[in-house]
Amino acid sequence: MISNFSSPSVSAGFSIALTCLGAAMLLLAATLPASAQSQAAADMFEKRCYSCHNIGGGDKKGPDLKGVTGRQRTAWLHEFIKSPAALNRKGDPAAADLFKKFAPEVMSDQDMTDEEITTLLTFIEDLSKKNEQFIPAGAKLSRPIAAGDSEAGLRLFTGKTALSGGGASCMACHNISGAGLLGGGTLGPDLTAANVKYRDPELISILQNPNFPTMNSVFATHPLNDEEIVQLFALFQNAKLANPAVPAPTAGPSIEPRFLLIGFAATVMAIACLNLLWRKRLRGVRLLIVRRRRQ
Ligand code: HEC
Ligand code: HEC
Repeated sequence: MISNFSSPSVSAGFSIALTCLGAAMLLLAATLPASAQSQAAADMFEKRCYSCHNIGGGDKKGPDLKGVTGRQRTAWLHEFIKSPAALNRKGDPAAADLFKKFAPEVMSDQDMTDEEITTLLTFIEDLSKKNEQFIPAGAKLSRPIAAGDSEAGLRLFTGKTALSGGGASCMACHNISGAGLLGGGTLGPDLTAANVKYRDPELISILQNPNFPTMNSVFATHPLNDEEIVQLFALFQNAKLANPAVPAPTAGPSIEPRFLLIGFAATVMAIACLNLLWRKRLRGVRLLIVRRRRQ
């Protein structure tokens, strides 16, 4: 008797539960890909664009991309991202303005599919609408800075300790205060105030994925490891503390007095040596010329 009454209600309850479960699964299916996609977009932005662009954090080497989908047409954005220089060469006025404003920095061509660009632009638009700033999820140090890190960082910077990935030492292209008498290279900017110019996550991200064309050509295949990133970051932190007055580096290379002095001394010595080496030959030639003239 009891089972006759209860079985329909049990089965009704069961089917309601099933329907609810089904609906929940549908909901999950609808939301999961979307968040997975924006996760992929955030990842892509961090690795490929964040060296030069913020979303909502202000201009870096390139313009802040907050609201860019409102400023430019979608087709323009696709064409620009694939090859900014080509669009500029075609005489596009918007591209020309950007190139003028951000010179000498030039955005390199991005080898991306239309789907990837669409995913990125949707992500940028979402953040912009929510008025949120892009925060790089991966740009964190693997451990807190400890005593000795800054010194170890300087050894990596100057090449006294080789980089584990086989990348060129920073000093080949950069200077930093304390890098030794002759200083470092000038192909890249002076990094003494790198930690003034960039916020911490921005700087950590540059160490993880330096997406500037020159650096990328070296470090894309020879990345720094987590320990090296901590030590180099500690060095930048320390350089800032030791030189609070150093202004953010300017675009052009500066001439240091000691370079002028060394250059002057070297020139004088070179002239003296050449004089010694060639004193006979010079006289011989001159004598010949004088003789010919007289004849
Ligand atoms: C090496 C630095 C660099 C990298 C990396 C870079 N950009 Fe740029 N980007 C620039 C510069 C600089 C400009 C300004 C135009 C110029 O001078 O090339 C610019 C301009 C833009 C513009 C036009 C902005 C506006 O206000 O109209 C868009 C859109 C853009 N970049 C998207 C991207 C995306 C997306 C990525 C990553 C896939 C990326 N950029 C990677 C440097 C970079
Ligand atoms: C082959 C030359 C080269 C090497 C080696 C190199 N860099 Fe760079 N780096 C550059 C150039 C060039 C730029 C400027 C990129 C630009 O403005 O587009 C740069 C930019 C930077 C910046 C941003 C500076 C700024 O003011 O915007 C940082 C930080 C940096 N490099 C750190 C390093 C570190 C750390 C190392 C060593 C692990 C290193 N670089 C090795 C060439 C190099």
